[in-house]
Amino acid sequence: MVETNTRKTSSHFSPMAKFLISTPFTLFLFSLLLTGESQNFSRNLPRKSLGLKKEKLSHLHFYFHDILSGRNPTAVRVASAAMTNSSLTLFGAVVMMDDPLTVGPDLKSKQVGRAQGIYASASLNELGFLMVLNYDFTEGKYNGSTLSILGRNSVLSEVREMPVVGGSGLFRFARGYAQAKTHTVDFKTGDAVVEYNVYVFHY
Ligand SMILES: *[C@@H]1O[C@H](CO)[C@@H](O)[C@H](O)[C@H]1NC(C)=O
Ligand SMILES: *[C@@H]1O[C@H](CO)[C@@H](O)[C@H](O)[C@H]1NC(C)=O
Ligand SMILES: *[C@@H]1O[C@H](CO)[C@@H](O)[C@H](O)[C@H]1NC(C)=O
Repeated sequence: MVETNTRKTSSHFSPMAKFLISTPFTLFLFSLLLTGESQNFSRNLPRKSLGLKKEKLSHLHFYFHDILSGRNPTAVRVASAAMTNSSLTLFGAVVMMDDPLTVGPDLKSKQVGRAQGIYASASLNELGFLMVLNYDFTEGKYNGSTLSILGRNSVLSEVREMPVVGGSGLFRFARGYAQAKTHTVDFKTGDAVVEYNVYVFHY
């Protein structure tokens, strides 16, 4: 019964139409018509569709505490090479940090976030670190927003500059730079307090 019905229906089409329906190319065109924009993986958007208004420039100022010593270090060496300990620049040492960021140089002053990530000795001839980290802010309107830093830190220089390569939350589309200036360093333990000025464009 079903078979008879099908034959009847298809016999309504002319031989030319039957040919077109059966060609793979026509089937492809039909599938394009049916699925429409799902063939695209990208499109242009007006800025306001993401609520983006005017780009603004923000200045953040805080102190970074890198604590290697004691019972509660915030930075630990997680890897090194055979040559690292005999290298004057600790070449190859990789350190994971979760360093507190505070408003003042005193560790007990208000904490505004953490610097979470890696610094690694990447220079054979001077003390130079590759910095790969996120600032995770936990205070005020920036609570929950992050900034990502990727740069070179020649720690013995007076002022070091590292690019801000992006961000999340209120810092979406962020770009800018961070300037680091050593505030105090304990040469025995390696513990350091570093002052940061961060200048960032975002929306
Ligand atoms: C893909 O996107 C472009 C630009 O938005 C549009 O012109 C084009 O018709 C789209 N194509 C399909 C198959 O939807
Ligand atoms: C290098 O020195 C550190 C401590 O200063 C030690 O923990 C580590 O085991 C040493 N690594 C090698 C490969 O000797
Ligand atoms: C920051 O956000 C977290 C999670 O939403 C919340 O638990 C915390 O209380 C907030 N901190 C401040 C200082 O607002």
